[in-house]
Amino acid sequence: MVYLDYAATTPYNKDVLKTYTQLLEKYFYNADSIYSQGIEVNRLLEKSRGLLAKMLDVDEEEMIFTSCGSEANNMAIKGIAFQYQNRGKHIITTSIEHSSVYETCKELEEVFGFEVTYLPVDHTGHIHIDDLKKSIRNDTILVSVMCINNEVGSIQPIEEIKNVLKDHPLVKFHVDMVQALGKIKIDLKGIDCASFSAHKINGLKGSGLLFKRKSTTLVPLINGGQQEFGLRGGTSNACTYIVLAKTLRLALENFDQKEKYVSKLNKYLIKELQTIPDVIINTRGKVSSHIVNFSCIGYKPEVILHALEEKDILISTRSACSSKTSDVSRVMQQLHLPDEVAKSALRVSISDLTKEEEIDKFIYCLKEVLDSIKKQR
Ligand SMILES: Cc1ncc(COP(=O)(O)O)c(C=O)c1O
Repeated sequence: MVYLDYAATTPYNKDVLKTYTQLLEKYFYNADSIYSQGIEVNRLLEKSRGLLAKMLDVDEEEMIFTSCGSEANNMAIKGIAFQYQNRGKHIITTSIEHSSVYETCKELEEVFGFEVTYLPVDHTGHIHIDDLKKSIRNDTILVSVMCINNEVGSIQPIEEIKNVLKDHPLVKFHVDMVQALGKIKIDLKGIDCASFSAHKINGLKGSGLLFKRKSTTLVPLINGGQQEFGLRGGTSNACTYIVLAKTLRLALENFDQKEKYVSKLNKYLIKELQTIPDVIINTRGKVSSHIVNFSCIGYKPEVILHALEEKDILISTRSACSSKTSDVSRVMQQLHLPDEVAKSALRVSISDLTKEEEIDKFIYCLKEVLDSIKKQR
């Protein structure tokens, strides 16, 4: 099978899985129990927190374990909104955020009376920093901008946003780094909250992480016990927390080498796609090497996807979280591309596990599929 949907999720790293299974067998104890077994689980959990903090160059009390990236996004955005609403009720985000940010902002508007500015993007999926500058108001409390877009791969100008926000010290800055972790170098300086997800880096599903700067306070979404500094009540899913440190360590191992390899593969993939008539590449400008969005003009993307699936090749039409809606993806709509381009978009996402032969097979089969659809017309 040729798997080219790494932005949706990634296969488990075998070492991670092995360690996790061993942990599960040994450590079913509650990490908050005060007998020695519970204390031991808690020690391992806190050790993992410390290691994660070290790898991300932050303090360990700034690492909050969550169940996924979506939860981390909800926790940060709602937590900041509720905590700082007395200062103002205005939030700035972008029009192409992942649904876990976008729908959270919609809920804050519709249910809780916040006002949200959705920054537009250009046809390559990048915001313009002047739009951000113009949108900041006296009652703005939060700017939430994703680092790498999951559908088109655009990298937003995070460092420039940090610079703008230096003049607005009361405005919190949250970054959805789910597609960025392990793919590009991450610098959390100047950021108040950042979201991560384990299953995008060959880790476990049901495992995520929120970075929350000490100077930022959140209203908790899950009230309950003392777990996660009182921010997330409920018995700790300790073994997933413990194995997350190993997951990240392995993801960051040989970083430069992996980055170079994926970048080379990306160039090869784009070059090959460009040889196919009717194909337009939508991923342009400052982008991730891991995601290539392209349109086969005049073809239904679902038909191509399933025809490739029959040949044992897996790609996607858009974000897996909104793949079941039939209309054009919200992200593609926001790029203001011609209708036939937006309607026919497909996403290929690669990783350091992808082989050049897999790209060759994909290109060969894509040509075959397009030819066969053309003949049937
Ligand atoms: C950019 C982005 N943010 C957030 C998420 C949500 O992460 P999770 O699947 O861990 O909830 C995803 C998942 O696809 C994503 O791509």
